[in-house]
Amino acid sequence: MARPKVSIIGAGMTGSTTAHWLAAMELADIVLVDIVEGMPQGKGLDLLEAMPIIGSDVHIQGTNDYADTKDSDIVIITAGLPRKPGMSRDDLLHANAKIVKDVALKAIEQSPNAIFIVLTNPLDVMTYLTWKVTGLPHHRVVGQAGILDSARMRAFVAMELGVSVENVHCYVLGGHGDSMVPLTRHSNVAGVPLNQILPPDRLEAIVERTRKGGGEIVSLLKTGSAFYAPSAALAQMVEAILKDKHLIVPASAYVNGEYGLHDIYFGVPVQLGRQGVEKIIEYDLNEEEMAALRRSAEHVKANIAKLEPYLS
Ligand code: NAI
Ligand code: 2OP
Repeated sequence: MARPKVSIIGAGMTGSTTAHWLAAMELADIVLVDIVEGMPQGKGLDLLEAMPIIGSDVHIQGTNDYADTKDSDIVIITAGLPRKPGMSRDDLLHANAKIVKDVALKAIEQSPNAIFIVLTNPLDVMTYLTWKVTGLPHHRVVGQAGILDSARMRAFVAMELGVSVENVHCYVLGGHGDSMVPLTRHSNVAGVPLNQILPPDRLEAIVERTRKGGGEIVSLLKTGSAFYAPSAALAQMVEAILKDKHLIVPASAYVNGEYGLHDIYFGVPVQLGRQGVEKIIEYDLNEEEMAALRRSAEHVKANIAKLEPYLS
């Protein structure tokens, strides 16, 4: 049986690190595409040469030619600019919209049956754009953000309490920006809600650090943004899809009615399987949580409105 094929458009920090995780997981043959000549070929060959050492029989190819992505099962879009210190994700909108539109159109031409996973920022807006320009059904276009934001919160809680990260379950919904909504009532340590374990001031500090988690890394790195955790999150989504796991994770999905929101890509709990987004899970939210979600949605909606020039 042929191995599944995953193409990653954008062979920069997140794209190449995603290829690394996927190759180590022996999940699929991988095609790394970039606009820069030689770089994806070099990274692809280097990674391929690591396979005998780690014992993984996947093929990895770097290329500048979309023909090599033909018949991919999954296309991941990481092409675009990352932020610099002092920039918000929204500042990337116009530069990245041009790039994402261009690469999405080239990729869909080669792989009309693929599931698209978007990473490029501003994430919810670029996922909406990918859905619109590819013309795919919305369950086959999904964005990565919530696994990363929730993993940051999980890491901070595990450090605070000195427990295994495996015992910590956190759920961060909403847009991938400073208005994201970490749900402290639904998040728990081995079943005990966070707001019953942590004093309010410590919990608030963790929520705040989670919201600003991307910026914290940008200000440390100075020349780019986070890539290990974002690419591990992408690999988890690819695994859930290729293995048809029906895995429930927060991700940016097309919401039209759920949570009282309409025509928006937004971070919600979704079930991921071989068909892509199989369903959206609706949590029972209180007034305060719903208000925070609505505020975050208004922010994403205002940015989606700026896509007008790219949708014709
Ligand atoms: P990077 O700069 O390391 O890599 C981006 C790559 O895209 C570069 O190699 C560049 O040559 C390539 N590229 C640019 N235009 C292209 C085109 N037209 N066709 C093909 N390739 C093209 O940036 P990094 O760190 O990989 O981040 C990529 C994007 O992902 C950024 O927008 C960043 O903000 C976003 N991001 C989103 C996260 C999320 O959770 N949603 C997490 C981390 C990054
Ligand atoms: C992050 O949260 C850059 O959006 C990216 O790290």
